[in-house]
Amino acid sequence: MRLSQRVLRESESATMAVARRAGQLRAQGVKLFDLGAGEPSMPSPQSAVEGAVAALRAGHTRYTAVDGLADLRTSLAAAYSGTGAPWTGEGDVTVTVGAKSALVQAALALVDPGSEVVIPSPCWMTLQAQVRLAGGDPVAVPMSAAGGFELYAAPLLDAITDRTRAVVLNSPCNPTGAVMSQDELRLLVAECADRDVVVVSDETYGAFVYNSSPRTDDRPVAKPAGTSVADLAGEFPDTVLLVSAFSKAYAMTGWRVGYALGPQQLICAMRSLQTHTTSNATSFAMHGALAALKQEAAYRADHVRHCAANRELVGAILGDHPRLRYVPPRGAFYAFPRVHLNACAYGNSTVEIAAKLLDERQVVVVPGEAFGAPSHLRISFAGDSDELRQGLERFAAAL
Ligand SMILES: Cc1ncc(COP(=O)(O)O)c(C=O)c1O
Repeated sequence: MRLSQRVLRESESATMAVARRAGQLRAQGVKLFDLGAGEPSMPSPQSAVEGAVAALRAGHTRYTAVDGLADLRTSLAAAYSGTGAPWTGEGDVTVTVGAKSALVQAALALVDPGSEVVIPSPCWMTLQAQVRLAGGDPVAVPMSAAGGFELYAAPLLDAITDRTRAVVLNSPCNPTGAVMSQDELRLLVAECADRDVVVVSDETYGAFVYNSSPRTDDRPVAKPAGTSVADLAGEFPDTVLLVSAFSKAYAMTGWRVGYALGPQQLICAMRSLQTHTTSNATSFAMHGALAALKQEAAYRADHVRHCAANRELVGAILGDHPRLRYVPPRGAFYAFPRVHLNACAYGNSTVEIAAKLLDERQVVVVPGEAFGAPSHLRISFAGDSDELRQGLERFAAAL
Protein backbone atom coordinates (compact mmCIF):
# COMPACT_ATOMS: atom_id res chain seq x y z
CA MET A 1 0.00 0.00 0.00
CA ARG A 2 1.24 3.49 -0.80
CA LEU A 3 0.78 5.62 2.29
CA SER A 4 1.14 9.38 2.06
CA GLN A 5 4.48 11.07 2.68
CA ARG A 6 2.59 13.15 5.25
CA VAL A 7 1.91 10.16 7.42
CA LEU A 8 5.19 8.34 6.74
CA ARG A 9 7.09 11.37 8.06
CA GLU A 10 5.46 11.08 11.49
CA SER A 11 6.85 8.33 13.68
CA GLU A 12 5.05 6.96 16.70
CA SER A 13 5.87 9.04 19.76
CA ALA A 14 8.16 7.62 22.44
CA THR A 15 5.29 8.20 24.88
CA MET A 16 3.22 5.70 22.92
CA ALA A 17 6.09 3.19 22.77
CA VAL A 18 6.40 3.24 26.58
CA ALA A 19 2.63 3.00 26.97
CA ARG A 20 2.51 -0.03 24.66
CA ARG A 21 5.23 -1.91 26.56
CA ALA A 22 3.53 -1.03 29.86
CA GLY A 23 0.27 -2.39 28.41
CA GLN A 24 1.96 -5.69 27.52
CA LEU A 25 3.32 -6.06 31.05
CA ARG A 26 -0.06 -5.20 32.58
CA ALA A 27 -1.73 -7.81 30.38
CA GLN A 28 0.71 -10.36 31.85
CA GLY A 29 -0.53 -9.39 35.32
CA VAL A 30 2.55 -7.35 36.32
CA LYS A 31 1.77 -4.60 38.89
CA LEU A 32 3.17 -1.31 37.60
CA PHE A 33 3.94 2.02 39.27
CA ASP A 34 2.65 4.30 36.58
CA LEU A 35 4.33 7.70 36.58
CA GLY A 36 4.02 7.90 32.82
CA ALA A 37 0.38 8.65 32.16
CA GLY A 38 -0.41 12.22 31.22
CA GLU A 39 -3.76 12.09 32.94
CA PRO A 40 -5.29 12.12 36.42
CA SER A 41 -6.27 8.74 37.88
CA MET A 42 -9.32 10.01 39.78
CA PRO A 43 -12.89 9.53 38.51
CA SER A 44 -14.57 12.31 36.51
CA PRO A 45 -16.90 14.56 38.55
CA GLN A 46 -20.22 12.97 39.50
CA SER A 47 -22.18 15.92 38.07
CA ALA A 48 -20.54 15.34 34.68
CA VAL A 49 -21.51 11.67 34.73
CA GLU A 50 -25.07 12.50 35.76
CA GLY A 51 -25.32 15.33 33.22
CA ALA A 52 -24.23 13.03 30.40
CA VAL A 53 -26.56 10.20 31.47
CA ALA A 54 -29.50 12.60 31.82
CA ALA A 55 -28.74 13.97 28.35
CA LEU A 56 -28.74 10.46 26.90
CA ARG A 57 -32.05 9.67 28.63
CA ALA A 58 -33.56 12.93 27.40
CA GLY A 59 -32.65 11.99 23.82
CA HIS A 60 -29.81 14.50 23.25
CA THR A 61 -28.26 12.06 20.85
CA ARG A 62 -28.38 13.95 17.58
CA TYR A 63 -25.98 16.29 15.82
CA THR A 64 -25.61 19.62 17.56
CA ALA A 65 -24.40 22.92 16.17
CA VAL A 66 -20.92 22.31 14.71
CA ASP A 67 -19.32 24.62 17.27
CA GLY A 68 -21.11 22.95 20.18
CA LEU A 69 -23.97 23.57 22.62
CA ALA A 70 -24.81 27.27 22.85
CA ASP A 71 -25.04 27.08 26.66
CA LEU A 72 -21.57 25.54 26.84
CA ARG A 73 -20.10 28.20 24.58
CA THR A 74 -21.58 31.09 26.56
CA SER A 75 -20.57 29.46 29.85
CA LEU A 76 -17.00 29.10 28.60
CA ALA A 77 -16.95 32.74 27.51
CA ALA A 78 -18.31 33.71 30.94
CA ALA A 79 -15.63 31.62 32.69
CA TYR A 80 -12.94 33.81 31.09
CA SER A 81 -14.89 37.10 31.17
CA GLY A 82 -13.41 38.44 34.43
CA THR A 83 -10.20 39.11 32.55
CA GLY A 84 -11.60 41.71 30.15
CA ALA A 85 -11.65 39.23 27.28
CA PRO A 86 -14.18 40.21 24.61
CA TRP A 87 -15.55 36.70 24.06
CA THR A 88 -19.33 36.14 24.20
CA GLY A 89 -19.80 32.57 22.96
CA GLU A 90 -21.35 33.71 19.66
CA GLY A 91 -18.88 33.19 16.83
CA ASP A 92 -15.79 33.51 19.05
CA VAL A 93 -15.90 30.13 20.83
CA THR A 94 -15.89 26.65 19.36
CA VAL A 95 -16.16 23.31 21.18
CA THR A 96 -13.91 20.60 19.76
CA VAL A 97 -13.00 16.93 20.20
CA GLY A 98 -10.45 17.58 22.94
CA ALA A 99 -7.82 20.32 22.91
CA LYS A 100 -5.91 18.27 20.34
CA SER A 101 -8.60 18.80 17.76
CA ALA A 102 -8.73 22.57 18.39
CA LEU A 103 -4.94 22.75 17.99
CA VAL A 104 -4.85 20.85 14.70
CA GLN A 105 -7.69 22.98 13.37
CA ALA A 106 -5.74 26.12 14.28
CA ALA A 107 -2.69 24.74 12.44
CA LEU A 108 -4.76 23.86 9.37
CA ALA A 109 -6.46 27.25 9.42
CA LEU A 110 -3.25 29.28 9.72
CA VAL A 111 -0.55 27.35 7.88
CA ASP A 112 0.20 27.16 4.14
CA PRO A 113 2.95 25.00 2.63
CA GLY A 114 6.21 26.69 3.61
CA SER A 115 4.72 28.65 6.53
CA GLU A 116 6.58 28.54 9.82
CA VAL A 117 5.23 28.11 13.33
CA VAL A 118 7.49 28.96 16.25
CA ILE A 119 7.29 26.55 19.20
CA PRO A 120 9.42 26.61 22.36
CA SER A 121 11.30 23.38 23.02
CA PRO A 122 11.15 20.98 24.86
CA CYS A 123 7.51 20.52 23.99
CA TRP A 124 4.68 18.06 23.59
CA MET A 125 5.63 16.74 20.17
CA THR A 126 2.09 16.72 18.81
CA LEU A 127 2.40 20.50 18.48
CA GLN A 128 5.22 20.09 15.94
CA ALA A 129 3.59 17.12 14.19
CA GLN A 130 0.36 19.05 13.66
CA VAL A 131 2.22 21.88 11.91
CA ARG A 132 3.92 19.36 9.60
CA LEU A 133 0.58 17.65 8.90
CA ALA A 134 -0.74 21.06 7.87
CA GLY A 135 2.18 21.39 5.41
CA GLY A 136 4.16 23.91 7.46
CA ASP A 137 7.53 23.91 9.17
CA PRO A 138 7.69 23.88 12.96
CA VAL A 139 10.58 26.00 14.24
CA ALA A 140 11.74 24.61 17.58
CA VAL A 141 13.25 27.30 19.80
CA PRO A 142 15.22 25.80 22.69
CA MET A 143 14.64 27.20 26.16
CA SER A 144 17.55 27.02 28.58
CA ALA A 145 17.89 23.75 30.53
CA ALA A 146 19.96 25.51 33.19
CA GLY A 147 17.02 27.81 33.90
CA GLY A 148 14.56 24.91 34.23
CA PHE A 149 13.37 25.58 30.66
CA GLU A 150 11.70 28.79 31.80
CA LEU A 151 9.70 30.34 28.96
CA TYR A 152 11.02 33.65 27.61
CA ALA A 153 9.56 35.81 24.86
CA ALA A 154 12.82 37.14 23.34
CA PRO A 155 14.12 33.91 21.74
CA LEU A 156 10.64 33.20 20.35
CA LEU A 157 10.40 36.70 18.86
CA ASP A 158 13.91 36.37 17.41
CA ALA A 159 12.79 33.24 15.55
CA ILE A 160 9.93 35.04 13.77
CA THR A 161 10.45 35.57 10.03
CA ASP A 162 8.15 36.80 7.29
CA ARG A 163 7.04 33.16 6.86
CA THR A 164 5.85 32.87 10.49
CA ARG A 165 2.10 32.54 10.92
CA ALA A 166 1.89 31.60 14.58
CA VAL A 167 3.70 31.05 17.84
CA VAL A 168 2.31 28.05 19.70
CA LEU A 169 2.82 28.46 23.41
CA ASN A 170 2.08 25.71 25.92
CA SER A 171 2.15 27.27 29.37
CA PRO A 172 2.02 25.55 31.84
CA CYS A 173 4.20 23.28 29.76
CA ASN A 174 4.10 19.55 29.18
CA PRO A 175 6.76 18.24 29.90
CA THR A 176 8.76 20.93 31.75
CA GLY A 177 6.12 22.47 34.03
CA ALA A 178 7.39 25.93 33.05
CA VAL A 179 4.90 28.81 33.20
CA MET A 180 5.49 31.98 31.21
CA SER A 181 5.33 35.07 33.43
CA GLN A 182 2.79 37.83 32.91
CA ASP A 183 5.44 40.29 31.67
CA GLU A 184 6.92 37.84 29.19
CA LEU A 185 3.46 36.91 27.93
CA ARG A 186 2.58 40.57 27.36
CA LEU A 187 5.86 41.14 25.51
CA LEU A 188 5.23 38.14 23.28
CA VAL A 189 1.62 38.98 22.46
CA ALA A 190 2.22 42.72 21.90
CA GLU A 191 5.11 42.07 19.51
CA CYS A 192 3.19 39.31 17.68
CA ALA A 193 0.26 41.71 17.27
CA ASP A 194 2.61 44.20 15.56
CA ARG A 195 3.96 41.50 13.28
CA ASP A 196 0.61 39.92 12.35
CA VAL A 197 1.48 36.60 13.98
CA VAL A 198 -1.17 34.68 15.95
CA VAL A 199 -0.33 33.42 19.45
CA VAL A 200 -1.98 30.03 19.88
CA SER A 201 -1.96 29.45 23.62
CA ASP A 202 -2.42 25.83 24.64
CA GLU A 203 -3.70 26.21 28.23
CA THR A 204 -4.73 22.59 28.69
CA TYR A 205 -2.90 22.65 32.07
CA GLY A 206 -4.05 26.19 32.92
CA ALA A 207 -5.61 25.17 36.24
CA PHE A 208 -2.33 23.71 37.51
CA VAL A 209 -0.12 26.58 38.62
CA TYR A 210 1.77 26.41 41.91
CA ASN A 211 3.42 29.32 43.66
CA SER A 212 7.07 28.47 43.72
CA SER A 213 8.45 30.68 46.45
CA PRO A 214 8.63 30.12 49.28
CA ARG A 215 8.18 26.43 48.49
CA THR A 216 6.58 25.57 51.82
CA ASP A 217 3.84 28.11 51.16
CA ASP A 218 2.64 26.64 47.88
CA ARG A 219 -0.99 27.39 47.23
CA PRO A 220 -2.75 26.22 44.12
CA VAL A 221 -4.92 28.89 42.53
CA ALA A 222 -8.05 27.85 40.63
CA LYS A 223 -7.61 30.43 37.91
CA PRO A 224 -4.22 32.03 38.29
CA ALA A 225 -4.05 35.66 37.29
CA GLY A 226 -1.49 36.67 34.74
CA THR A 227 -0.79 33.28 33.25
CA SER A 228 -3.49 33.16 30.57
CA VAL A 229 -3.76 34.95 27.24
CA ALA A 230 -7.35 35.67 28.30
CA ASP A 231 -5.85 38.57 30.29
CA LEU A 232 -4.59 40.10 27.04
CA ALA A 233 -7.49 39.24 24.73
CA GLY A 234 -9.27 42.55 25.45
CA GLU A 235 -6.24 44.49 24.28
CA PHE A 236 -5.15 42.16 21.46
CA PRO A 237 -8.39 40.48 20.31
CA ASP A 238 -7.08 39.57 16.84
CA THR A 239 -3.84 38.05 18.07
CA VAL A 240 -4.65 35.47 20.75
CA LEU A 241 -6.33 32.08 20.42
CA LEU A 242 -6.87 30.31 23.75
CA VAL A 243 -7.13 26.51 23.55
CA SER A 244 -8.02 24.31 26.50
CA ALA A 245 -10.11 21.30 27.50
CA PHE A 246 -11.97 19.54 30.28
CA SER A 247 -9.47 16.69 29.99
CA LYS A 248 -6.94 17.46 32.73
CA ALA A 249 -8.64 19.95 35.08
CA TYR A 250 -11.77 17.79 35.48
CA ALA A 251 -10.17 14.38 34.91
CA MET A 252 -12.25 13.94 31.76
CA THR A 253 -9.61 12.79 29.27
CA GLY A 254 -11.77 10.12 27.67
CA TRP A 255 -14.76 12.41 27.15
CA ARG A 256 -12.97 14.34 24.41
CA VAL A 257 -14.30 17.83 25.03
CA GLY A 258 -11.99 20.74 24.31
CA TYR A 259 -12.51 24.30 23.13
CA ALA A 260 -11.01 27.42 21.62
CA LEU A 261 -11.79 31.10 22.17
CA GLY A 262 -10.41 33.74 19.84
CA PRO A 263 -10.86 36.03 16.84
CA GLN A 264 -14.12 35.44 14.96
CA GLN A 265 -12.37 35.01 11.61
CA LEU A 266 -10.14 32.24 12.94
CA ILE A 267 -12.90 30.53 14.95
CA CYS A 268 -15.09 30.59 11.82
CA ALA A 269 -12.30 28.93 9.79
CA MET A 270 -11.82 26.29 12.49
CA ARG A 271 -15.56 25.63 12.59
CA SER A 272 -15.55 25.18 8.84
CA LEU A 273 -12.74 22.58 9.14
CA GLN A 274 -14.71 20.83 11.88
CA THR A 275 -17.72 20.60 9.54
CA HIS A 276 -15.61 18.45 7.23
CA THR A 277 -13.86 16.36 9.87
CA THR A 278 -15.50 15.49 13.20
CA SER A 279 -18.67 17.65 13.09
CA ASN A 280 -19.63 18.49 16.67
CA ALA A 281 -18.02 17.07 19.80
CA THR A 282 -20.15 14.23 21.22
CA SER A 283 -23.54 15.65 22.25
CA PHE A 284 -23.95 14.02 25.66
CA ALA A 285 -20.26 14.50 26.53
CA MET A 286 -20.79 18.23 26.07
CA HIS A 287 -23.78 18.09 28.44
CA GLY A 288 -21.54 16.39 31.02
CA ALA A 289 -18.82 19.00 30.49
CA LEU A 290 -21.36 21.80 30.93
CA ALA A 291 -22.48 20.32 34.27
CA ALA A 292 -18.84 20.09 35.39
CA LEU A 293 -18.15 23.69 34.39
CA LYS A 294 -21.20 24.96 36.30
CA GLN A 295 -20.98 22.82 39.42
CA GLU A 296 -17.47 21.57 40.01
CA ALA A 297 -15.27 24.49 41.05
CA ALA A 298 -14.59 22.67 44.35
CA TYR A 299 -13.72 19.40 42.58
CA ARG A 300 -11.26 21.26 40.38
CA ALA A 301 -9.66 23.04 43.34
CA ASP A 302 -9.35 19.72 45.23
CA HIS A 303 -7.74 18.13 42.23
CA VAL A 304 -5.18 20.93 41.94
CA ARG A 305 -4.48 20.66 45.70
CA HIS A 306 -3.90 16.92 45.29
CA CYS A 307 -1.35 17.61 42.53
CA ALA A 308 0.30 20.33 44.65
CA ALA A 309 0.72 17.83 47.52
CA ASN A 310 2.10 15.23 45.11
CA ARG A 311 4.54 17.80 43.79
CA GLU A 312 5.86 18.25 47.32
CA LEU A 313 6.33 14.48 47.53
CA VAL A 314 8.39 14.52 44.32
CA GLY A 315 10.55 17.35 45.68
CA ALA A 316 11.09 15.49 48.97
CA ILE A 317 12.22 12.26 47.26
CA LEU A 318 14.06 13.56 44.19
CA GLY A 319 15.05 17.09 45.22
CA ASP A 320 18.50 16.23 46.55
CA HIS A 321 19.17 13.07 44.58
CA PRO A 322 22.87 13.05 43.59
CA ARG A 323 22.21 11.64 40.10
CA LEU A 324 19.55 14.23 39.23
CA ARG A 325 19.09 17.92 38.69
CA TYR A 326 15.55 18.68 39.78
CA VAL A 327 13.89 22.08 39.30
CA PRO A 328 10.43 22.17 40.95
CA PRO A 329 7.84 22.67 38.18
CA ARG A 330 5.75 25.85 38.48
CA GLY A 331 2.78 24.29 36.73
CA ALA A 332 1.16 21.28 35.00
CA PHE A 333 1.66 17.94 36.75
CA TYR A 334 5.03 16.76 35.52
CA ALA A 335 8.50 16.73 37.02
CA PHE A 336 11.25 16.81 34.41
CA PRO A 337 14.57 16.07 36.12
CA ARG A 338 17.85 15.90 34.23
CA VAL A 339 19.81 12.69 34.80
CA HIS A 340 23.58 13.10 35.21
CA LEU A 341 24.29 10.33 32.71
CA ASN A 342 28.07 10.44 33.15
CA ALA A 343 27.63 9.68 36.88
CA CYS A 344 24.80 7.19 36.51
CA ALA A 345 25.62 3.52 36.00
CA TYR A 346 22.00 2.54 35.44
CA GLY A 347 22.01 3.38 31.70
CA ASN A 348 23.70 5.38 28.95
CA SER A 349 20.63 7.27 27.83
CA THR A 350 17.27 8.18 29.27
CA VAL A 351 15.60 5.90 26.69
CA GLU A 352 17.61 2.99 28.10
CA ILE A 353 16.95 4.05 31.70
CA ALA A 354 13.18 4.30 31.09
CA ALA A 355 13.16 0.82 29.48
CA LYS A 356 15.14 -0.70 32.37
CA LEU A 357 12.99 1.01 35.00
CA LEU A 358 9.94 -0.56 33.40
CA ASP A 359 11.36 -4.06 32.99
CA GLU A 360 13.35 -4.28 36.23
CA ARG A 361 11.50 -2.00 38.68
CA GLN A 362 8.03 -1.88 37.13
CA VAL A 363 8.15 1.93 37.11
CA VAL A 364 6.74 3.78 34.11
CA VAL A 365 8.39 7.10 33.21
CA VAL A 366 8.77 8.78 29.81
CA PRO A 367 12.22 9.53 28.36
CA GLY A 368 12.89 13.19 27.55
CA GLU A 369 13.71 12.17 23.96
CA ALA A 370 9.92 12.07 23.44
CA PHE A 371 9.89 15.85 23.98
CA GLY A 372 13.15 16.84 22.30
CA ALA A 373 15.13 16.82 25.58
CA PRO A 374 17.51 13.86 25.91
CA SER A 375 18.97 13.26 29.41
CA HIS A 376 15.64 14.11 31.02
CA LEU A 377 12.80 11.95 32.29
CA ARG A 378 9.18 12.99 32.59
CA ILE A 379 7.45 11.92 35.76
CA SER A 380 3.71 12.48 36.05
CA PHE A 381 2.43 13.30 39.53
CA ALA A 382 -1.28 13.47 38.68
CA GLY A 383 -2.10 10.00 40.00
CA ASP A 384 -2.53 8.24 43.32
CA SER A 385 -0.12 9.54 46.03
CA ASP A 386 0.80 6.13 47.40
CA GLU A 387 1.62 4.71 43.97
CA LEU A 388 3.62 7.87 43.26
CA ARG A 389 5.64 7.52 46.49
CA GLN A 390 6.42 3.85 45.86
CA GLY A 391 7.31 4.51 42.22
CA LEU A 392 9.59 7.42 43.14
CA GLU A 393 11.36 5.38 45.82
CA ARG A 394 12.01 2.57 43.34
CA PHE A 395 13.22 5.09 40.78
CA ALA A 396 15.52 6.85 43.25
CA ALA A 397 16.95 3.52 44.44
CA ALA A 398 17.58 2.32 40.86
CA LEU A 399 19.55 5.43 39.96
C1 LIG B 1 0.19 20.17 26.10
C2 LIG B 1 -1.02 19.38 25.75
N1 LIG B 1 -1.96 19.94 24.98
C3 LIG B 1 -3.06 19.26 24.61
C4 LIG B 1 -3.25 17.95 25.03
C5 LIG B 1 -4.44 17.20 24.54
O1 LIG B 1 -5.56 17.42 25.31
P1 LIG B 1 -6.91 16.66 24.96
O2 LIG B 1 -6.83 15.32 25.60
O3 LIG B 1 -7.98 17.53 25.52
O4 LIG B 1 -7.02 16.54 23.47
C6 LIG B 1 -2.30 17.33 25.82
C7 LIG B 1 -2.48 15.93 26.24
O5 LIG B 1 -1.65 15.31 26.83
C8 LIG B 1 -1.16 18.07 26.20
O6 LIG B 1 -0.20 17.52 26.97
